[in-house]
Amino acid sequence: MRLTLRQLEVFEAVARLGSYTRASESLHLSQPAVSMQIKQFEDNVGLPLFEQMGKKIHLTAAGREMHRYCLSINQLLAEAETIIEQLKGVQSGKLTISVATTASHFATRLLAAFAARYDGVTISLDITNRESLKNQLEQNEPDLVIMGQPPEGVEVESSVIMENPLVLIAAASHPLAHVKNIALKHFAAEHFVAREAGSGTRSAIQRFFDNHGVTFHTGIEMSSNEAIKQAVEAGLGLGIVSVHTLELELETGRLVILDVEDFPIKRHWHIVQRTGKRLSPVALAFKQFVLEEAQQFIRLPAPS
Ligand code: PGA
Repeated sequence: MRLTLRQLEVFEAVARLGSYTRASESLHLSQPAVSMQIKQFEDNVGLPLFEQMGKKIHLTAAGREMHRYCLSINQLLAEAETIIEQLKGVQSGKLTISVATTASHFATRLLAAFAARYDGVTISLDITNRESLKNQLEQNEPDLVIMGQPPEGVEVESSVIMENPLVLIAAASHPLAHVKNIALKHFAAEHFVAREAGSGTRSAIQRFFDNHGVTFHTGIEMSSNEAIKQAVEAGLGLGIVSVHTLELELETGRLVILDVEDFPIKRHWHIVQRTGKRLSPVALAFKQFVLEEAQQFIRLPAPS
């Protein structure tokens, strides 16, 4: 068998996601490129690895055996990478970090300061939503993740970094802009510009409204906090965002935080890693840096 690591990577993605289309999206490849890699892989192995049943793709018996070895090979490669990073030490290692979309507002400043302190370090930063961070942790891809609530169903170790309050925002011209202590039930009749399903902010908001017995109506969904702020400013609805995403909008009077009972929604940022993951010296240094210094990279908006 003459297999390539690329073929193993594509095979693993198709097996995990059960779909050529989803594997091609996750690997940023075209679907024909994925099919081609799988075909070459099967030709090399000499047996079919997948079978199609209706719309679903399943591993054959040979595919299941191959998948088991594929996971061990990936595990060994990750270990080899960690050992090499340990030999390189803090000064010239590689750091792979993933952060929640909402955390990117302070995480980029944090990484810039870390990079300035350890200027030989190569940093790879992925910014994505909570659901995708959970998948990455399952696959043991990033060294460390900065996110809201640590995921369930994956074995992780996490530490609280700091608070992450969610506030209710409106356009400055909104009739409720200057009303004090607005009852939460009032908002059952309002429409919100909300984050997409899979966002940690979105599920925290939904949980909060459910716990208070108030219906949460979403008008439009958006995957970017910046887009939500602009939509709220344009009067498309109200929004609920982390206070860490708000900076100049309040100072320049484009948005206001409404004074709503039981708000802000209390949340925390966490730094998360897979249980038992051997962190490289760079990753350890970064974790320490985040726990000790993250707070100073928050820019809290001045009160409106
Ligand atoms: P989000 O992340 O960007 O997915 O909403 C925040 C979180 O993890 O709670």
